[in-house]
Amino acid sequence: MRDLEAIDTVGVVGAGTMGNGIAQVAATAGYDVVMRDIEREYVDSGLENIESSLSRFVEKDDLTESEADDVLDRIEGTTELTDLASCDLVVEAAVENMDVKQDIFADLDSAVDDDVVLATNTSTLSITTIASATDRPELVVGVHFMNPVPVMKGVEVVVGEKTDADVVALAHDFSEALGKETWESDDKPGFVSNRILMPWINEGIRAFDEGVATKEDIDRGMKLGTNVPMGPLELADHIGLDICLDATETLHEELGDRYTPAYLLKRKVDAGDLGKKTGKGFYEYD
Ligand code: 3HC
Repeated sequence: MRDLEAIDTVGVVGAGTMGNGIAQVAATAGYDVVMRDIEREYVDSGLENIESSLSRFVEKDDLTESEADDVLDRIEGTTELTDLASCDLVVEAAVENMDVKQDIFADLDSAVDDDVVLATNTSTLSITTIASATDRPELVVGVHFMNPVPVMKGVEVVVGEKTDADVVALAHDFSEALGKETWESDDKPGFVSNRILMPWINEGIRAFDEGVATKEDIDRGMKLGTNVPMGPLELADHIGLDICLDATETLHEELGDRYTPAYLLKRKVDAGDLGKKTGKGFYEYD
């Protein structure tokens, strides 16, 4: 496996919202980046997004004009997968479709050197299944960035059935080198983030549809009531409703009806472990 010190050039597959965000943070951290998409217009639109995001950092004096120019110079946009051959690590951020991802991983497997780690930004699909399209499943790992990538601090590291422990460590270290903070999830549908976030969004949409409140009050209620930056409907719009639907469909297919009260919740209440007020809930308190 190529370790963190050996990584100079990062490949990004997909120049959409997530791909261009990942390319931007990698180039901002000093890496050379090759960002690839299937059409030149997608590549150009990704580069434009990066330019506009960088200008927001310049406006706030977080970057100088010349630093922003250097970041852009470090990103090469391409439509050729073979241009990724020189990459020391590749992050895939293409559409959330297993067939497409498996095709990409099979192609990447032949395009890059044998010791290069192939990471996927998938939001809900199985790392293990994606990895099975390659001859290096031990070098395949999930690095799930959050949208907007240049702003959101978190990256979810997802461990496939065959992912090597060193590759997991590299995924954490690489994310941290991009200025992010990580948490780890097993390769279970939706991982930690979307397994919990998507039903929340879905229920917000249902509550609106069933006339519980106006969309504004649902969003306002969740923001004021639980101190989140966006309510479920605003957040769904921000993520993209198509992405939310794809993710929710995957969760539904894999997990079935998740809306009955959790057994563990009932068991804890019966046991009197009610949370902070009793000194013990899911955590323990002094
Ligand atoms: N590039 C650069 N800077 C950006 C940016 C971008 N693309 N988007 C926002 N910003 C900056 C703004 O310049 C601003 O900076 P400042 O506070 O220093 O002035 C700051 O972020 C806040 O932006 P705005 O003032 O425009 O708007 P908000 O205060 O409403 O914040 C937000 C926007 C950061 C998106 C905030 O609403 C938020 O954190 N929302 C929740 C986002 C979230 O939950 N994301 C995760 C979704 S789940 C996911 O991605 C997983 C996937 O698998 C579905």
